[in-house]
Amino acid sequence: MINIPKGMKDVLPSEVYLWHHIEETARKTAERFSFKEIRTPVVEYTELFSRGVGDTTDIVNKEMYTFLDKGNRSVTLRPEGTAGVARAFLGNGLAGGAMPFKAYYLISAFRYERPQAGRLREFHQFGAELYGAEGAYADAETISFADAFLKNLGLKNVALRINSIGCKSCRARYQTALREYFAPHLSEMCLDCKTRFEKNPMRMLDCKEETCKKFTAHAPEMLNYLCDACEKHFKEVKSLLDAAGIVYHVDPSIVRGLDYYSRTVFEFISSAAGAQGTVLGGGRYDGLLEQMGEKAVPAVGFAAGMERLLMVMAAEEAPVPQDKNVCCYLAGLDANARAKTYCLAQTLRNEGISCEIDLQDRSLKAQFKYADKIGARFVAVLGENEMLEGAAEVKDMKISRSERVKFEELAAYLNKKISAEVSASEVIL
Ligand code: HAM
Repeated sequence: MINIPKGMKDVLPSEVYLWHHIEETARKTAERFSFKEIRTPVVEYTELFSRGVGDTTDIVNKEMYTFLDKGNRSVTLRPEGTAGVARAFLGNGLAGGAMPFKAYYLISAFRYERPQAGRLREFHQFGAELYGAEGAYADAETISFADAFLKNLGLKNVALRINSIGCKSCRARYQTALREYFAPHLSEMCLDCKTRFEKNPMRMLDCKEETCKKFTAHAPEMLNYLCDACEKHFKEVKSLLDAAGIVYHVDPSIVRGLDYYSRTVFEFISSAAGAQGTVLGGGRYDGLLEQMGEKAVPAVGFAAGMERLLMVMAAEEAPVPQDKNVCCYLAGLDANARAKTYCLAQTLRNEGISCEIDLQDRSLKAQFKYADKIGARFVAVLGENEMLEGAAEVKDMKISRSERVKFEELAAYLNKKISAEVSASEVIL
């Protein structure tokens, strides 16, 4: 047997309804915030990520699935969605269209990380990007969108943490302060941190090594180095979140693992989301599009990990709609009745009813056993008598009661029964 690659997971038919629920909630929330879906390729030229996500990040340095294609070009499976959306926006001339540009995506992404709970090598994201608006309202709208999405999923114990990592100019002062602080401790820090010290000391704040953590815990905080404009922006974001009744904590330790961020950064954290705890992360990244194109386009966005959302939903016992099982199993007792179930099934399906028939020539007992296993809501039995009468014996599997229903009335009968149930059990978004 060939095994599934390490760090990857199958989504089985019995659990896919949970994914549909998250995707549907994502789409509905996006629609309310007036974001449209964008789809970009899984594979991009490697340069997009090394330049976009940043060559001082772990993602680019250690975790990318990079290979040469048959034309000898270096390509990479996307480790996230932001860089691809930025490329699509610039490459398709969308900067000339209506602004702000607002797009969301549901994607798979790949990072060659050490797998653990909530950390996979292939994972899935729901993300959103908003371009062209530099004011604090855009940050607040983006955070509100993320917050509404999590609330619409019924999650209650996910905490929002925000921070500002300033702009290029205030960050330069901060980096100098960090280098001054870390220099005397550098010999005791990990090899990665020594490289980070040279290239981008802010990355040191993200280090997970215990030996480094004891130094990073007391490092200078970015918030004390913000320039006036960045400080004003951050203050506005906070007051807009207050006005919307969105609860947050300012957490100076949030620096994010990707290089493109500026000013506002945020994470939604839950203790149920695995070792990292971050369910959703994002922020402003005003420099990325300028770096990739010619002119500056302010940008802000977020992405949530679907696998981590599932973990948190399970831990919080969030309400989810029931998995949809087949409505009616048509059981035929002999060849004649079986032929009739085949035709009846076509009629029912044309009327929008899901149904199944026996495909394995099984006994009635075996057919009932199967119908029960697949959770069929009704079983319609057709035997010799039923064929003579032109009516099926329809068993309601929930209450174990049967009724005779004429063949030509079967669709209306089932439709009436299930429509009453669907409206009673729908999870309202
Ligand atoms: P990120 O923080 O790298 O940000 O990823 C966003 C979310 O994806 C994380 O909070 C987590 O839920 C999920 N995630 C990341 N890596 C893994 C993994 N190995 N296994 C399972 N889940 C994972 C970004 O990707 C940015 N592009 C977000 C963004 C959009 N910023 C602005 N716009």
